[in-house]
This record gives sequence, C-alpha cells and structure tokens, in this order.
Amino acid sequence: MSNSIATRIFVIDEDNIDESYIREAASIIKEGGLLAFPTETVYGLGGDATDATAAARIYAAKGRPSDNPLIVHVSDMDMFYKVVSKRDEESLALAEKLAGAFWPGPLTLILEKGDLIPGQTTGGLDTVAVRMPSRRAARLIIEKAGIPVAAPSANISGRPSPTRAAHVIEDFYGRIEGIVDDGPSPIGLESTIIDLTVSPPAILRKGFIEKQDIEKVLGMPVTEGGNTVENKGPKAPGMKYRHYAPKASLTIVSGIRMTSAINEMVRKNKDKKTGVICVSENADLYASEKIYDVGSRDRGEEIMANIYAVLRSLDEDNIEVAFSEDFSEVSHGDAVMERLIKAAGGKILRDN
Ligand code: TXA
Ligand code: MG
Repeated sequence: MSNSIATRIFVIDEDNIDESYIREAASIIKEGGLLAFPTETVYGLGGDATDATAAARIYAAKGRPSDNPLIVHVSDMDMFYKVVSKRDEESLALAEKLAGAFWPGPLTLILEKGDLIPGQTTGGLDTVAVRMPSRRAARLIIEKAGIPVAAPSANISGRPSPTRAAHVIEDFYGRIEGIVDDGPSPIGLESTIIDLTVSPPAILRKGFIEKQDIEKVLGMPVTEGGNTVENKGPKAPGMKYRHYAPKASLTIVSGIRMTSAINEMVRKNKDKKTGVICVSENADLYASEKIYDVGSRDRGEEIMANIYAVLRSLDEDNIEVAFSEDFSEVSHGDAVMERLIKAAGGKILRDN
C-alpha cells in the first residue's frame, strides 16, 4: 500500500478531552475511513464494523489474512444487543453476567453473530467477538460514531501489538486517516477472550482478567487453553509460526541457572549485538550491552504494561540476539508468557 493518505493525529488529554477531536475522529469511522485509537489494553485499528469494505481495508492495512476475525467494540449495551444474535439465550445470559462484572473493560466475549455484522468482519464465521473498552476516549468515539467499531490491534500483522501512539505511527503513518494519541495503554496486553458458544465456556486468549475471576462471576468452571482463529497457527505445514516477533532471534531462558546461562550465551554471542529482557531486581546481573528492565517481579502489571514496548525496542536498537527471563512466576505471568513464547518462535531453554 502506498504512503499517500494524509494521517491526522489527535492528541488527547484524558482529563480534558477536546470534544471537537472526538467528533472529527468519529466522523473518520462514519465515513468508512480507518482510525487508530487507544484502548486500555492496546491501540486498535478501527473501522465501521457494519461495513464489509471497511473490514477489507483493515485486513489490507494490517497485512492480515481475511479469515482471521476482528473484534467488534461497542460503547453501551444497546449497541451490544445489535451486534449479537438473540437466538442463543443461554450464551446471552452468561454474556450479561460477565458484562455486568467486567464491562467496560478488557474482556472479549464470543457469541453468535447478529445480522448487522457482515461475514467479512468476522472472517466468515457465524460468531462474533465483542467487547466494551473502558478507555474514555475510545468509548466517546464509538458513541459519537453511533456504530460498532471493528478493531484488531493496530500493528502490522506479526509485529508486537502497539501500546504507545508512536508504535502506531511507526506502522501506519501515511496509510490510515487518523491516529488518536492518548499516551501509553495502561494494561498493555490484549483483552482476555472467552468463547460463550461452547459449553463449558472456553478461554481462547489469556489477559488481565483471569480464569478464576470469570469462574467466580459465572459460578461454573470454564476451560483454558483453547485457541483463537489466529492462534490455531499457520495453515501451510512446515511454516514456522511467529507473532509479536522482534527482528532479533529471541530465546526465553528459565530454571535455577537462568542468570548464568544467559550470561554464558551473551558471551558466546559477543560479536553480535545482544540484549537481555529481565525484571528490575536482576538488571545488574547481566553482562549484555543492552539490558531491558521490564519492571519489578513484585508488580506483574508493570511487566504486562511494558513487554510490547520492550519487544519493539529490540528492533529500534538493532539487537541481533536477545534473551528473556521466564516471567511465569509473576502475577499475570501466564498471559505475558503466552505472547513472549510466540515472540520467541517457541525457543525456550530450561536450564536447571
Ligand atoms: O484488547 C484487545 O482485544 C485489542 C483491542 C484493540 O481491543 N484487540 C485485539 O484484536 O487484540 P486482534 O484482532 O489483534 O485479536 C483478536 C483475536 C484474534 O486472535 C482473532 O483470531 C480472535 O480474536 N477472534 C476474533 N473473533 C473470533 C471468533 N469469532 N472466534 C474465535 N476467535 C476470534
Ligand atoms: Mg493482534
């Protein structure tokens, strides 16, 4: 795609949101254009979810296969009921419970699709993924547009998801009509996704809202370890599946010898530019040229909020060989590791 579109940038002040910016941003979506906007999880690349042409533009801009469905964002429950089918009452009842507890917020529900949403938006599926974001600017824009907004993460397919407006500018400046800059995304990992069309409900992607939070609200067990369409992986056998991936070769290292094992490998790669991703407490232990302190091991939320920005920094710094500590043991560590393992293309070294 050529770099020929004039991209408007709207810088938002959360405490004093400029009404005219919201109006102009919303009109981009209403007119069939593409608008990147902040949510509490990551920045989204938004377009009219009811318009097959807008969906096609989103897939093209991201370089995403058009059978990988988009998430539909709503600003209130009235809009939610327009997006989903009313036929499956049982699933809808579960959805209402979860919406009551977690919306607006970082939880995406998969339900039977309503007629308003074209198959192009849902990658040809009869189900639709829907969520109500809590970020104020996001909700005001959707509300002003008056239409549900389809928005995948605003990154070129395969790159780390964007948690800063600068990341979106890197990938899409000159290729979409607008970018709303609302500072860093506070959560920093994509929403938890739960499929309510299966019984028991199945978590397809981990996130800030965890299995036990959901089970408490539903009063029933749910399964974990299911897959989104995207995570079912490459259709062609033999293709190595990498996502959120930096250009550097990334290896995750775990085990009690983690620190010395990382230092050994850094030494072996001394003719290359190396980087180590670690918790603040360990930042002084490594002999690598570049150290990426991702946050304290006592504050998993901090690691969650920083991880994608760190993965992008590896590229900016032209790192060739990178190592990351294993963050499974920190709070929300499972959700972080779900992404990090993909970024590493599955390369994990368990050195005990
Ligand atoms: O936090 C988020 O969810 C962010 C912000 C922008 O809201 N959005 C996001 O969208 O992460 P995206 O497109 O990058 O990820 C959506 C995931 C994909 O893995 C897709 O395959 C899956 O959701 N998905 C969407 N609809 C689905 C469906 N009907 N069935 C199964 N998986 C679905
Ligand atoms: Mg994504």
